[in-house]
Parts: sequence; structure tokens; C-alpha cells
Amino acid sequence: MKIVMFDTHEYERAAFEQANRSVGYHLTFLEPRLTSVTAPLAHGHDVVCSFVNDIVDARTLEILRDGAARLVALRSAGYNHVDLAAAARLGLRVVRVPEYSPHAVAEHAVALVLALNRNIHRAYARVREWNFSLDGLVGFDLHEKTVGIVGTGRIGQVTARILRGFGCRVLAHDKQPDLAFASATGVQYVPLQELYAESAVISLHVPLTPATHHMIDTAALAAMKAGVFLINTGRGALIDSRALISALKRGHLGAAGLDVYEEEEGVFFQNLSNQVLQDDVLARLLTFPNVLVTSHQAFLTREALAKIASTTLESVAELDRGGVLSNEVRADHVVASPAG
Ligand code: NAI
Repeated sequence: MKIVMFDTHEYERAAFEQANRSVGYHLTFLEPRLTSVTAPLAHGHDVVCSFVNDIVDARTLEILRDGAARLVALRSAGYNHVDLAAAARLGLRVVRVPEYSPHAVAEHAVALVLALNRNIHRAYARVREWNFSLDGLVGFDLHEKTVGIVGTGRIGQVTARILRGFGCRVLAHDKQPDLAFASATGVQYVPLQELYAESAVISLHVPLTPATHHMIDTAALAAMKAGVFLINTGRGALIDSRALISALKRGHLGAAGLDVYEEEEGVFFQNLSNQVLQDDVLARLLTFPNVLVTSHQAFLTREALAKIASTTLESVAELDRGGVLSNEVRADHVVASPAG
């Protein structure tokens, strides 16, 4: 089997080369993102491996199909960037990695809360300039604070458990509440408006769908308590960034921790340090002292990279054997995880 990987970075290559040792597929690593312009590079490969900021639209998929691809293997859990209907029409199958490490993402979400609350990002910059003053760095105890978890799938549940460990009261909202999880952890499901009104920290863990697109808009932000910390490791477009900026300017938000951004495509994962940043919304977000942006790195642990590589190569082996693809995603349903 010949596999071509788009948008690859050094840290993933090592994990894929390691996982490939036992199966010996032909791997080609490419740096460009997958788009309709770069898709011809996949010519002659059975499997095209893609990451979150690739543009896997109908045109891209047509070129892949014409180049003899049979499978699009996503190195991500989310698949909102793929035109699944077009893939089905073209006879291209799509698989994802439904779970690589919910701990990686949940721990990063909590890292954002802690860094923002205790002003670690500002303290780090200060002491490097020999400024050892503590003015403006006051945080709060997380202990006994109310935290709201929006989406209690794999990642949301791990986040909730970590925060229960801090002694937080955890409220949750999900369209499919997991009552066994709630009773085992002491987490309480509430309507979204109640979660907004009561939480000192809100962390988003729902997928991006038409129902969740811009779910955090002006009205949702206004419904949140003044001083709320909003954490997004889900997908950027869960939040209306302009509404967020306006709430930050008013001083309504205590902080925002963003691992994802709605226009991150073409920016995140790239070194643009020698260029002028063209995105005015992102540039404005980066001016707030109480906003911490990371470049979609919540997944980035050794364990997660190893799982992404092994799951992807298992999907390729399933294709090779001609059986069921256990991690297939289709326009009508998701085989492995109806909740994803
Ligand atoms: P999951 O599928 O296990 O859980 C998602 C939960 O959201 C489910 O319980 C589902 O019922 C709920 N949900 C879906 N639509 C909803 C709605 N409209 N209202 C309320 N609840 C709703 O997914 P998992 O593994 O926990 O991942 C969550 C998201 O995190 C992924 O979809 C992906 O976008 C993002 N992610 C981000 C990463 C990063 O590096 N920043 C890495 C991995 C995932």
C-alpha cells in the first residue's frame, strides 16, 4: 500500500516511521497542506492522509479519486473539514482517529485555565526582564469554584474528572447526557443557560456542527457571569471571535484560553514570524493580556502521536484486507462513534 501524508511535521514523521516498522507500507511525507492545488501530488497513492487544516472539498476529492486514491485517512478526530457527501459520491472512503488521547486535550485545557488564572504567561515574560513585581498577577483558588463543561464526550469527561480533583463543582451540558458518568463523578447536568450563568470557568468540548457553529455568540457571552474564563480546545468556530473581542473589550470576560481559532487554517502550524500577520481579528485577540492562544497543540503529546500513527496504519491494513473500516466516517453516520 502506498500512503501519502500531507501537512506533515517532523514530530509526526518519527511516530509514523516507528508505527510502520512492523507493517512496512510505502510512506511519502509531504509538507504542503492538502488542497485542490496540491492534490495532484497524491497521484498513484492508495491512501491520502490528511490533517485538520487541509481543504478536503469536492474538487480536492475528485483529483484524489482521479489519482487512484481509495481512502482518505484523517489524522484527527474532527472531520468537519471534509465534504463527506462528495467523498461518498466519488466512492472514496474516509476514516478518522476517533480517539488518540483525550487526556492530552483535557490536560491542555486545564493548563490554559491554570496559566491564565495564575498569570504564568505574564510572570514568565516579567522575570526575564528582571521585573519581579507581583502587581496585577492575583489569581483565584479553583477549589470550590463552579466550572462548566460543554460536551461530555471523551475529552469533556476527562476534563471534568481533572477539575473534580481540584475540588471544583462541575456543571455539564450535553445533548446526550451520560448519567452513569455524572453519578460516578458528582458532575451535575444542567441546561446551557444555567451553566453559563453559574460557571467561573467554561470549557468547550463539543464538535463543530451546524448546531454548534458560533454557539458562543453575543447572547451566550452576555449570559455568562462577569469575569468568566472561557476555554476552547474544541474547534475555533464554536466561538464568534468578533463577539468574543467585544466582550473582552468591555471587560466582561476574565480570560480566554484558545487552542483553536475559526480562521486558523493557513496560520496555525506555520512559522509566520518573518511575515506580517494579515488576520486583524487574530491580531486583536493577541493584544489582550488575558487571552492565551496556542496553535492547535492540545493533542500534541508523545502518546497521542503514537496512537494517531498506529490507528491510521490499522485503518490502512483494514482497507488492504477488504473488510469493514472500523473508524469510517460517512455523511449519514459515523461507524465507530455516533457521538463524534
Ligand atoms: P466526543 O464525540 O467523544 O464528544 C463530543 C460530545 O459533544 C458528545 O458527548 C456529544 O453528545 C456532544 N455534543 C455534540 N453536539 C452537541 C450539541 N449540539 N450540544 C451539546 N452537546 C453536543 O468528542 P471528543 O473526542 O470529546 O472531542 C471533542 C472535540 O474536541 C472534537 O470534535 C474536536 O473538534 C476537538 N478536538 C480538539 C483537539 C485539539 O488538539 N485541540 C484534538 C482532538 C479533538
